[in-house]
Amino acid sequence: MCGIIAYKGKGNAASIALDGLKRLEYRGYDSWGIAISSDSRIGIYKHVGRVGNAEIPAAMAGKPARLAIAHTRWATHGGISEKNAHPHLDCSGKIALAHNGIVENYQELKKRLQSQNHKFASESDTEVIVHLVENYMNLGVKKAVQKAVSELKGRSAIVVLTSNGEIVAARKGSPLIVGYGDDEYFIASDIPAFLQHTSRVMYLDDNEMVSLEQEPRFYSMATGKEIRKRIVQIDWKVEAAEKGSYRHFLIKEIMEQKDTLWRAANQDEQKLVKVAEQINSAYGTFLVGCGTAGKVCMTGEYFFAKIAKKHVNYCVASEFPNYISFLTPKTLMIPVSQSGETADVLEAINAAKKRKVRIISLLNVFGSTMMRVSDDFFMVNAGIEKAVVSTKATTAQLSVLLLLAYASAGNLNEGKRLLLDTASAVNDMLNPRYEEHIRKLAEKLYEKEHIYIIGRSLNYPIALEASIKIQETSYIHAEGFAGGELKHGPIALISHDTPCIVLAANDESKDEIISNAMEVKARGAYIIGIAPDNNEVFDYWIKVPDAGNASPIVNIIPVQILAYHLAVLKGLDPDMPRNLAKSVTVK
Ligand code: F6R
Repeated sequence: MCGIIAYKGKGNAASIALDGLKRLEYRGYDSWGIAISSDSRIGIYKHVGRVGNAEIPAAMAGKPARLAIAHTRWATHGGISEKNAHPHLDCSGKIALAHNGIVENYQELKKRLQSQNHKFASESDTEVIVHLVENYMNLGVKKAVQKAVSELKGRSAIVVLTSNGEIVAARKGSPLIVGYGDDEYFIASDIPAFLQHTSRVMYLDDNEMVSLEQEPRFYSMATGKEIRKRIVQIDWKVEAAEKGSYRHFLIKEIMEQKDTLWRAANQDEQKLVKVAEQINSAYGTFLVGCGTAGKVCMTGEYFFAKIAKKHVNYCVASEFPNYISFLTPKTLMIPVSQSGETADVLEAINAAKKRKVRIISLLNVFGSTMMRVSDDFFMVNAGIEKAVVSTKATTAQLSVLLLLAYASAGNLNEGKRLLLDTASAVNDMLNPRYEEHIRKLAEKLYEKEHIYIIGRSLNYPIALEASIKIQETSYIHAEGFAGGELKHGPIALISHDTPCIVLAANDESKDEIISNAMEVKARGAYIIGIAPDNNEVFDYWIKVPDAGNASPIVNIIPVQILAYHLAVLKGLDPDMPRNLAKSVTVK
C-alpha cells in the first residue's frame, strides 16, 4: 500500500521517478507527487488521482534534476487531496519526505510538534515525520532520520530528500529495496519500479537505513553503525511486469495460469515431504492469510481434511490474536501471502514467533518481509502479479497446499500427477472461445445488483473467493455461501432472475449442490453452473475439467474471467478497483 521511489544518478530524476511511479501504481492510486532537489532547493508537485499517463510537470521539465523522490498514495489518514498527497515538506521547505505505513502515535507527536511551533499543512499522519526530522537536522540527515524513526509507532518505510542533495531512507516494518544501476541508484517499495534499469538489488531489513552517497551506504538504526549487505541478482524479466499485448494486467495474469500451475507444481519434493511430516507431528497447524489468501487457507483446511484426514486450522490473520493461547513451540504456522508484506499476516507471525512457533510461509514475492522472518518458505512461482485482484497467485497457492495435503497423506506422487493433469487441462481450457463464452455471460449479468455463489465441500471456500473476485472488479454485490446454508436464511434473497453461480464438482457433494441449485431455481433464480457436466438445472453452463480434488483450482478460473469482463463491460478499470491497493502494508 502506497508506492515509494527515490532516484539518484545521471538520468533525469523527475522523469525516472515518474516512470517508476507508473509501475508502482498498483500499490495505491488516490494521489501522487514528486519532489526534486536541485540548486539547493526542493521543487515539489502533487496531483489528485492516478498517475496514469501523466507527463513530467512543466516546472520540472526544464533543467533536469539528478535526485528525486516520488510517491503514489492509498489514503489512510486524511482525505484524498493535494495537501495530503506526499511528499510532505518541513517548515523550512528544505526537507521532503514520502512514507508508506501508518504512524500510530501521530496525534501525540503532532501535539508536541505544534507546541514547538511546527506548522502543519496537511491532515496526514506522515507529516509528523518530516517535522521530527527537521527537529534533529542539526545532527545531520542520517542521525535525524534515525532519531525521528525511533519515535514512531507502527509500520513504516520512509524516504527523505534534502535541498543539500541527500537521500536517506529507513525501513521499520514496510518494504524498501535498493536498486544498483550503472552509476545510478534507486530505492523503492517494490522491484518493478526500477526493473527496467537494473535487476541488482539489496533488500533493506527492518530497522536499517540507507543513504545514497557516492554509492548506497547502509546503517543499523539501533546502533547507527555502518553495515555490510549483499547485492542480489534477481531473475525477473521486464516483460513479466508489462501488459504486453493484453489490454489489462488482470486478463494477462488470468491467462498466464496456463503456465503458472506447472511452475507451482515444480516444488522440491523432499521439502514437501519434510514439511508434511512437520504438519503431521505438529501440535496444531495454522494456515493464516487475508482476503483471497485467507480463502486459500480455508480451502487448505478442506484439502487436509479430505485428502490427509488431518485437521489443520485456518484463520483470517487479523483474527489470529484470538488463538494465541493455543500456541506452543510444537505449533506450526503456514502463512499464505502473495506479496509477503501484508501487515495483518506479519503481526500474526510476530505473535506466533514470540511463542516459538515454527513458521513456514507460502509466498510469491522473493525477498519479501515474510520470507525473511520465516523459518522456511515455499515460493509458489506465479511470477509478478500486478493486478490488484489476485488470480494466478491464488491458484498457485492452492496448488502448493494441495501437494502438501497429498504429501501429508503419504501420497505426494498422486498429488503431483493430479496437479500436472490439472495444469494440462487448464492449458486446454484457456482459449479464446472459452473466454468469449464467459464474456457473453458477463453481458447478461453486468447490470445486475446481486450475484450469489454456492459451493459445497472443497468448493465452499471457492464460493467465498468467487464473491471477492466479483465484488472487487464489478462492484456488484456478490456473496458466497455453503450450498447447505441457503435454506437457513439467505434463500430469502433469491427472487426472479437473481443470478446464482453453482460450483458443482464431480465429487461426493455433487447431488446435494445440484439439489441446492434446484431449490433456488424453484424461487426464480438464474442458474449458472460451473461444472464438468451439464445439468438440466443450469440456465448457463460453463464447462470445467473434471479435476477431482483439484476442483477448487479449475472452478475459480471461469469466475476470474467473468469478474474481468464484468468490469470491462461496466467501463471500470479491472486492474485498479476503487478503494483497493495491492500489498496491504497497514493493519
Ligand atoms: C483479492 C486480493 C486480496 C489479497 C489480500 C492478501 O483479490 O488480492 O484479498 O489476497 O490482500 O494479500 P497477500 O496475498 O499479498 O497477503
